[in-house]
Amino acid sequence: MTTPSAAPVTAVILVAAGSGQRLGYGMPKAKVPLGGDSILIHALRGVAAAGVARQICVALPPGDRDLAAQCEAFAEELQRGGDASEAPEITAVDGGASRADSVRAALAALHPDTRSVLVHDAARALAPEAVFHRVAEALAAGALAVIPVLPVVDTVKTVARTTGPDADIAPELVTGTAPREALRAVQTPQGFSLDTLRRAHESAEGLDEAQAAAVTDDAMLVELLGVPVHAVRGASQSLKITTPLDLILAEGLLEGPLGARWVEG
Ligand code: C5P
Repeated sequence: MTTPSAAPVTAVILVAAGSGQRLGYGMPKAKVPLGGDSILIHALRGVAAAGVARQICVALPPGDRDLAAQCEAFAEELQRGGDASEAPEITAVDGGASRADSVRAALAALHPDTRSVLVHDAARALAPEAVFHRVAEALAAGALAVIPVLPVVDTVKTVARTTGPDADIAPELVTGTAPREALRAVQTPQGFSLDTLRRAHESAEGLDEAQAAAVTDDAMLVELLGVPVHAVRGASQSLKITTPLDLILAEGLLEGPLGARWVEG
């Protein structure tokens, strides 16, 4: 939509092609209203405000003209809003059936000079700028892969479906308790050297449907390559808006005393 004067080096892939079924709005999640704008516009603002990207490549539900128009309007807003030569290029692509397919579609549309990529869920529309900076700084310091994480507050157990006579008591039986000190809840943006992320996604192309559905983030694929994945501090404001309760929390963050994305998590 815009032609940057200098080639981009870092791109942000914003995956926004999810159906949003669990939110129950009967529309793609990226379109759902949040504080007077759509979730997509909040996510785009957050990425642009972080200032780390020369290109923002957005994966949208295939053929969604309304969301494509929102991207165009946002690109124009950026052009009007300040130094147009500094504004990131906004590219919209059709996402795929799975999140990983959406990332791959966006990877194919990156500027050839891109060297590093941050992959971000549009559903984490209020991720603070500081998290983008921590991830970008770790990449600049030499990491090939970096993810933002938070300590886990709940005790986490593994379970299996109950079989035999016990099935009448409860549907699942506990098989173990994970050591909480070593557990982290993983967020986005996740940062990678472009070469690492491309290799990770190429290696996943042969996965069957069930395996592909189990790929819930990009770092998983990078781990399978044996590449070290570094972890930096995430933020509670980066919550993934998935259920109606999350939307209430996000509205509260925008309106409440926390002051939305500018408060450190
Ligand atoms: O559904 P899930 O919670 O994994 O979605 C995480 C992010 O991935 C969301 O921002 C969603 O829009 C995106 N996604 C996508 N393409 C899909 C599925 C999810 O871009 N096919």
